[in-house]
Amino acid sequence: MIIAVGNDHAAVELKETIKEHLTAMGHEVIDCGINRGEKADYPVMGEKVARMVADKQADAGIAMCGTGIGISIAANKVKGIRAACCSEPYSAKMAKEHNNANVLCYGARVVGDELAKMITDTWLNAEFQGGRHAKRVDLISAIDNKEDR
Ligand code: RB5
Repeated sequence: MIIAVGNDHAAVELKETIKEHLTAMGHEVIDCGINRGEKADYPVMGEKVARMVADKQADAGIAMCGTGIGISIAANKVKGIRAACCSEPYSAKMAKEHNNANVLCYGARVVGDELAKMITDTWLNAEFQGGRHAKRVDLISAIDNKEDR
């Protein structure tokens, strides 16, 4: 898969860890984030990752900030994006199976490296279940369209 990753200054180290992890699994990583010594506002970085996914330049996105909350809120403002902030694997699994989340978010001040890798793997390996969940995801898309964004 082509995976866009992005981060603010709170998640520089975690971004590097996750990039390495994804690359080792054979994924292609597009880094939209910042590096050591740089600072960035999480809404800007969340939008960058989200646009890569919405514009189909990436198959999925992973966005990280201090808590994962701010960057997920920002990513969700982009039409077509379903960003889920997950701090443990169960939510990550459900985020894909039920919500078909196309951007995963977490916080470098909340999860450690190993937990972040586990959350990432769980989300990437899960599959959207469709069926009754498809109707609900369609209802989310309908909100996007009502907003005319
Ligand atoms: C930056 O200090 C912090 O506010 C940001 O990384 C994030 O946690 C916001 O939700």
